[in-house]
Amino acid sequence: MVLPTTNFERVALKKPLVLLASGIVAVTVIVVALIFLRVFRIPFFQVSLLGISNSLVHWIGWMGTLYIAFATPAYPIVKRKYPEHLRTMLNIHVVGNLLSVLLVSIHFAHQVTRPASSYPDLGTGVVLYATMILLVATGMVLISGVGKKLVKQVHFLHPAFALTFYTVIVMHIIHGI
Ligand code: HEM
Ligand code: HEM
Repeated sequence: MVLPTTNFERVALKKPLVLLASGIVAVTVIVVALIFLRVFRIPFFQVSLLGISNSLVHWIGWMGTLYIAFATPAYPIVKRKYPEHLRTMLNIHVVGNLLSVLLVSIHFAHQVTRPASSYPDLGTGVVLYATMILLVATGMVLISGVGKKLVKQVHFLHPAFALTFYTVIVMHIIHGI
């Protein structure tokens, strides 16, 4: 999985990507803070999709999760088979995953701020969100070039956290449905 240094240097330290990624992270933090502070909340109403009825917040969580689960493998595949598209794919990997983390964060924040009378059993969801934070943090280290000495270790940890995500999401969905 570890990319040769020369190849990696081609994908790191692209200022516009780092700025865009930081902007999405900032928006995510603000949205989560507003939900935690009860300033903003998506009202509870059911939305029917493909004959399945669920709350809007629930569908938002699904959208973010499905994107991450299915789009992520595209990056390693394209990187190896079509290296000439590495840059485009990395942009899609970073921006697409960060927007999905924003969607997942909306689901997370609504769940952990539910009223005491209907509070969920905290468990797999919290592990998943911690994994999301670690994926974003290690991803940001990789694209920004911060902590250059740690890049090799982070380059190993980032896909490892992706494996944690795939393992735990299965248990979370089974618990949720
Ligand atoms: C990375 C993606 C996700 C994260 C970070 C996340 C996070 C959370 C958290 C923190 C909770 C509170 C309970 C707990 O800790 O387990 C929760 C509850 C819930 N999540 Fe997720 N979730 C994600 C994806 C999904 C998906 C795809 C579904 C679709 C089935 C889902 C369905 C639910 C349901 C139904 C509950 C309420 C469970 C209850 O009432 O006990 N989540 N989620
Ligand atoms: C949130 C879900 C994410 C998942 C599941 C995920 C998963 C992965 C995986 C499996 C790889 C290994 C690809 C390979 O070398 O074969 C990878 C590489 C990488 N990811 Fe992510 N990632 C996520 C989010 C992010 C984010 C948010 C960023 C940036 C802020 C990012 C930046 C990178 C970078 C820079 C690489 C290495 C690129 C290279 O060496 O070619 N990732 N990611």
